[in-house]
Amino acid sequence: MSETVLLIGGGGREHAIARELETSEADLYACAGNRNPGIARIADGFETLETTNPKAVLEFAEDVDATIAVVGPEAPLQAGVADELESAGIYAFGPKEAEARIETDKAFQRRFMAEHDIPGCPDFETFDDMDAACDFVDEYDGDLAIKPAGLTGGKGVKVIGDQVTAEEGKEYIRESDYDRIVLEERLIGEEFTVQAFVANGDVRTAPAVQDHKRAYEGDEGPNTGGMGSYSDATTALPFMTDADYDDAVSIIEATVEALEDYRGILYGQFMLTSEGPKVIEFNARFGDPEAMNTLPVLETDFLDILTAARDGDSLPALEFAPQATVCKYAVPEGYPTDPEAGAKVQVDEESAGDALLYYASVDERDDGIYTTTSRSFAVVGRADSITEAETIAEDALEVAGEEGLHMRHDIGKPELVQQRIDHVEELRGE
Ligand code: AMP
Ligand code: GLY
Repeated sequence: MSETVLLIGGGGREHAIARELETSEADLYACAGNRNPGIARIADGFETLETTNPKAVLEFAEDVDATIAVVGPEAPLQAGVADELESAGIYAFGPKEAEARIETDKAFQRRFMAEHDIPGCPDFETFDDMDAACDFVDEYDGDLAIKPAGLTGGKGVKVIGDQVTAEEGKEYIRESDYDRIVLEERLIGEEFTVQAFVANGDVRTAPAVQDHKRAYEGDEGPNTGGMGSYSDATTALPFMTDADYDDAVSIIEATVEALEDYRGILYGQFMLTSEGPKVIEFNARFGDPEAMNTLPVLETDFLDILTAARDGDSLPALEFAPQATVCKYAVPEGYPTDPEAGAKVQVDEESAGDALLYYASVDERDDGIYTTTSRSFAVVGRADSITEAETIAEDALEVAGEEGLHMRHDIGKPELVQQRIDHVEELRGE
């Protein structure tokens, strides 16, 4: 039977998913709030709609006779898009609203880990009384991470002792309008991501990736959705051992088992501490940028994974090309605090050279491509080593026109990777 896949979402992650489906047998349709020129070119049809409106998504899915839907971002999952599609008999690769709470409600997520004895959970307390939260900051022996319980696009967390002092942290708690927050032990170490394809009780993990959340070079500045990322030609990253990777996979497996009926991508973000990997958070979808590291080296047909998931079959074993990848994002000037939306961007696609170019949250109009308040486009280098992949990505960025855009040139450079290795060695007392 020929498949018609509906892809929901218009960022770099979804452009990477679209590329996977471009080479498969499926007909592809896509919808997003912004018209992503990369996805629009690949898809047989592209509809601009509010993807957090489940009825609007379902209507488009029915119009195009979708047989499978892939939900890219978290907001539609939270809005119940997978539930709506399912109730109309369209298989959605992505969790229902209730299961997506593993990402969309950080208080739920921590309690879930604690209740099910899932390893790698930091000490935490949840609060809906902000005065009580401030008292806890005063009483707690050590630094805390302050996390709004709901979605903030990766930008809501403040870490005491890193980005803010205890006083500034309390001010943040008092002045932000959050209903519920989580205060948790500050974890010290190096972050990494492991993404798993999950369905029918199967868990198939991808190589580890390291994202860079901070806006400026040298890990300075505010947290962002992610400025860029790298993966190695092996499963682990240069600062980790295979045992660290396996520990992270065991945590994901324990989580899937406890969730019982989870399907879609389960993304674990870990801190490699002196005591091994601890969970920073789970996401109910691919990472963005991490999808752009993982999917270009995935050699298994993505459509085969989707159809196996839908048909209740065992998921195929995943094959990944033994290549390193480096992804660098170009974001609007001022991102994330004061991004300049509506600026025209020039993207000279021919100049991307050996790099892959992924459009993200830009909007294609009749007279050109414009920035939104989110990340604009990414380039990805693939090669035998991180260093070579970095050079390919960097060369592509240089020629892609930097007008009005900002990027982190340090991501994937040997000095930064070495700092990560030294950091972990220092923590482990090696
Ligand atoms: P999140 O939105 O949960 O991904 O958090 C954003 C960033 O905050 C993470 O990438 C970490 O750098 C940092 N962070 C979150 N939780 C902690 C923690 N418990 N300890 C230290 N840093 C954290
Ligand atoms: N790269 C972090 C995220 O997708 O949430």
